[in-house]
Amino acid sequence: MSATTQSSFRVTAESAEPLENRASATASRFIATRRRTLELSARLTPEDMMVQSCAEASPAKWHLAHTTWFFESFILREFLPGYRVFNEDFTWLFNSYYQSFSAIPEKRLRASFSRPGVDEVLRYREHVDHAIELLLERNPLPEAIQRIELGANHEEQHQELLLTDILHAFFSNPLRPAYCSDASWVYPAASTGGKKIEWLSFPGGLSEFGHNGHGFCFDNELTRHRVWLEPFALASRLTSCGEFADFIKDGGYERPELWLSAGWDAVKANGWRAPLYWSRNDEGWSVFTLRGEFPLDVVKDSPVSQVSYFEADAYARWAAMRLPTEFEWEHAAEGCRGNTGNPGETEKPDEPPMGNFLDTGNLLPVASGESSSLFGDCWQWTASAYLAYPGFKSLEGALGEYNGKFMSGQMVLRGGSCVTPAAHIRSTYRNFFAPETRWQFSGIRLAQ
Ligand SMILES: [Fe+2]
Repeated sequence: MSATTQSSFRVTAESAEPLENRASATASRFIATRRRTLELSARLTPEDMMVQSCAEASPAKWHLAHTTWFFESFILREFLPGYRVFNEDFTWLFNSYYQSFSAIPEKRLRASFSRPGVDEVLRYREHVDHAIELLLERNPLPEAIQRIELGANHEEQHQELLLTDILHAFFSNPLRPAYCSDASWVYPAASTGGKKIEWLSFPGGLSEFGHNGHGFCFDNELTRHRVWLEPFALASRLTSCGEFADFIKDGGYERPELWLSAGWDAVKANGWRAPLYWSRNDEGWSVFTLRGEFPLDVVKDSPVSQVSYFEADAYARWAAMRLPTEFEWEHAAEGCRGNTGNPGETEKPDEPPMGNFLDTGNLLPVASGESSSLFGDCWQWTASAYLAYPGFKSLEGALGEYNGKFMSGQMVLRGGSCVTPAAHIRSTYRNFFAPETRWQFSGIRLAQ
């Protein structure tokens, strides 16, 4: 998932499940996903929904429309006979990057789409929802069911983006409004008292990586293949805000020897002095979140977020450690699905991993407490370039643009974040962004 979401898809494995069961499960997932997008938007005013405050972001209204466009363009047009397109102009207006599908407006112009208004976008959503539900009642082809599953997974990516983008929008607003100002929510960091990092050791060896064919995956998770790992160890928790503050205090942003060349260029060109949403006044640092601004003292034990790959790499070098490769991370996480999410425990492939995801309602990274789950809170930068696995194949047609064309100049992130839907993530999931990207919920897990 990048600036507009990426991750191509494939529903792997010829499912042994009867088609009617899959259609019914897909219908439930579809309805729940569409409803959740509206719930996430319900806190926003129509004016909030127009803001596009940085190059990576899109307005919330655009997310509402584009996710709908995806179902209309790649499913209803092909698989529902007699489907009436809601508005022919939307065919290109809400296309993100599928060059072989239609014309595409420039991304930076999305905030200028004052028309259609929010009400019309919501009518567009209702029109498409009704048609997808009709299609699912009509014994659709397996390909149509697979694409609806894809559409739901695509929309979950945009749910995360919607929150990521609105956080940037509100940070950019001088009033610094909070997306969620529920007074009954209490920051859970205080109860943990800054848990010490422990090292989870793995002996290495020859292991398999990539999706194993059970259920949905994106095509960048294929094909499963073997990689040799040397012995390694992973930090039991993510790097905290307090630890990152020590890096800043020690001149981390002023010492070129800690940085990759391109990273140092980015520090100088952008004036980086701290993670994206940190601000400093006479009383010290504060950190802006979807729940408003917190003094560093309050969040010091929770994971540092909104750092680029370059900052994660420089921090690791300063700490005399390194970032894990994506294969080390996946190897450690293979046993993380199921009740605890802790490495080494039995995998339960039908259950999402435990972690601080969107479903917890925290909406920000929190201190890990007793859990050693590798998942949640922040996407974790890995030292692996985002490249095709052996045997990778893009899909036919416009959907082939979903993923493979981004395999250049990006680094892999793993694990999901506090705004990722829990059911969306798995140990083989590969997120990817350019190394200078900071607006995501991206953090640091050390390795050695
Ligand atoms: Fe998209």
